[in-house]
Amino acid sequence: MQLPKGTKIVVASHNDGKLREFADLMAPFGLEAKSAKEYGLPEPEETGTTFEENAYIKAYAAAKATGLPSLSDDSGLVIDALGGQPGVYTANWAETPDGTRDFGIAMQRAEVAMQEVGAVKPEQRTGRFVAVICLAWPDGKAEYFRGEAEGRLVWPPRGGSGFGYDPVFLPDGQTRTFGEMTAEEKHGWKPGQATALSHRARAFQKFAEAKLGAA
Ligand code: IMP
Repeated sequence: MQLPKGTKIVVASHNDGKLREFADLMAPFGLEAKSAKEYGLPEPEETGTTFEENAYIKAYAAAKATGLPSLSDDSGLVIDALGGQPGVYTANWAETPDGTRDFGIAMQRAEVAMQEVGAVKPEQRTGRFVAVICLAWPDGKAEYFRGEAEGRLVWPPRGGSGFGYDPVFLPDGQTRTFGEMTAEEKHGWKPGQATALSHRARAFQKFAEAKLGAA
């Protein structure tokens, strides 16, 4: 079943970077979207071991609390040389002793781990960003949409745009990292356009085609 124009939807995130990207992606559709942050909802603990489980925890908590359909995204960076780490723990790698998040530290941690396993040549530094969007309803039903962006990890970080690990991620076929791209280049996608570049935009494209009637 598609979501009619004017549907009120909660974006179950407190991450400003993600919220900005979702706002851009939803702009062409007539959805009335407000974030969990704007509703003053607490952030549930992400206790799952898969992107799908964590996406469901966030979306269902917001749907249950508001009585509205809710859209969440659980995402992360999967590095092949590290056996898929940091994966669902991507945000945790940025945690500092005082409880704040520092992505300079997180990128460094990933780099040190790659050096330790000898992943120094570009072909040994492959990985992907993964985003799983979950659309959950107050009754607990849910649907999932997965997007992936393949690329390589570079060092040192390049560019000051985007958020999180963007400056160390060079998508396949590109010469600039996500951190060196404009928002439009990284996650821009509008109905009728060819495949989007970023993992979040690719997942959103699937969601929009299935639920918003986008062509
Ligand atoms: P979570 O989905 O809230 O568990 O957090 C995922 C983490 O992955 C974020 O805090 C970011 O550090 C990282 N991440 C997810 N998507 C992106 C992206 O598009 N660019 C850079 N980092 C990202």
